[in-house]
Amino acid sequence: MIRKVVAKDLKLVNELIKNLDSNEIVNIELLDHPFYRYLVYELNSEIIAVLKYSIIYERIEIDYIYVLEKYRRKGVATKLINYIVEENKNCKNFSLEVRKSNIAAQKLYENLGFKVVNIRKNYYGNEDALIYMRSE
Ligand SMILES: CC(C)(COP(=O)(O)OP(=O)(O)OC[C@H]1O[C@@H](n2cnc3c(N)ncnc32)[C@H](O)[C@@H]1OP(=O)(O)O)[C@@H](O)C(=O)NCCC(=O)NCCS
Repeated sequence: MIRKVVAKDLKLVNELIKNLDSNEIVNIELLDHPFYRYLVYELNSEIIAVLKYSIIYERIEIDYIYVLEKYRRKGVATKLINYIVEENKNCKNFSLEVRKSNIAAQKLYENLGFKVVNIRKNYYGNEDALIYMRSE
């Protein structure tokens, strides 16, 4: 089941996203932010994945997605991304940015029709970032 993050999830969500580049700490106020959306994937009452996206007027930016290691390669991330596409049918542009070394994420996004539109040189210190977009 995919659902919004609620207050009781915050501790776990913050544990999960420590594994990402994001320095964000999600709090109650952020859950009500007009542009941000936080989702979790729950399986048998266990949170196994988290995704944040931002609604930037006519574009949606996928800020981060994290799936617990033992649940990877089972289509969880694909389901989460398809869910936000469904939830935002009026939005025609989706974008995100990924480390050049993160092949798993690149394959995931390419499978979903995202294309590289730009490269941010040394975005991560000594590593480039790839900018992906999907336009309907
Ligand atoms: C990237 C990530 C979100 C993918 O989640 P996932 O639930 O395993 O992805 P899916 O099962 O939906 O994979 C869909 C497709 O993406 C590709 N893919 C996913 N992981 C891959 C890997 N490790 N190596 C190669 N291809 C991979 C495959 O084509 C896969 O389809 P297949 O399994 O039928 O071959 C997950 O590996 C993760 O949480 N990584 C750490 C955090 C991260 O890098 N997040 C993205 C940047 S914010």
